[in-house]
Amino acid sequence: MTQGLRDMAVAVLNTADGREKTALSRRYAATWFAARKAGALLPIGRGTPPDRPARPARPELLDPRDVPRRRPGSPQGRIAILHAIAHIELNAVDLHWDLIARFHDVDMPLGFFDDWVKAADEESKHFNLICDCLEAMGSHYGDMPAHAGMWRAAEDTAGDILGRLAVVPMVLEARGLDVTPGMIKIFQQAREDTTVAALEVIYAEEVGHVAYGSKWFNFLCGRQGLDPQPVFLELVRRYFHSPLKPSFNEEKRAQAGLPPDFYWPLTEPA
Ligand SMILES: [Fe+2]
Ligand SMILES: [Fe+2]
Repeated sequence: MTQGLRDMAVAVLNTADGREKTALSRRYAATWFAARKAGALLPIGRGTPPDRPARPARPELLDPRDVPRRRPGSPQGRIAILHAIAHIELNAVDLHWDLIARFHDVDMPLGFFDDWVKAADEESKHFNLICDCLEAMGSHYGDMPAHAGMWRAAEDTAGDILGRLAVVPMVLEARGLDVTPGMIKIFQQAREDTTVAALEVIYAEEVGHVAYGSKWFNFLCGRQGLDPQPVFLELVRRYFHSPLKPSFNEEKRAQAGLPPDFYWPLTEPA
């Protein structure tokens, strides 16, 4: 029998090595879109995603407070920034495949799967691009410790697709839109053009991921006759454990379908 999309998602989640995980992810995305183009739809099927995705033995995962901070002015500081980004991208690969695999009780249109397969493919590309930059600077992913808490949002929302969409694309990935221009500036000042180019690809494509989040969040609310804004605020307060931090990239957030009343109220403790 043909392998279904959710089995593919589970296979990616269960692959530990970063480069192997992203290679498999990109191969499955190509398979999915080739079948879509040919009009020969792959089955979605059912899969059982692991509670936590497989990850390589290194990096060592530490409590965020114990991850050493380095100054961005030094090459070591820039390597540390890239290492943290690589870790976020690898986590994002798993988050998108987990979203595809996990919520099989919720019937979703095909466009939902198209969007998240595309997002997972792009995260895989992002991880590889940043790893290439790290390696060109004499480092590699796994060379320094990384944040341990990254899968927390996935665990907290494992039973709630609306909560997952609210917290992952619409809060965490939207935060990426806020902070990436500052990172691009750091690498522009250091004249590290390859890294600037990689970050610009990431910045452009992340707008799409946030937009997919708000599109499917609104879709699900509409199907249930819910008013999206108060539902969103309630879910973020339930699953995301700190107030949102300004400043916000209002222009890119708007482009991604996130209006100001979806984030300004969350800057205050509930
Ligand atoms: Fe990304
Ligand atoms: Fe993303």
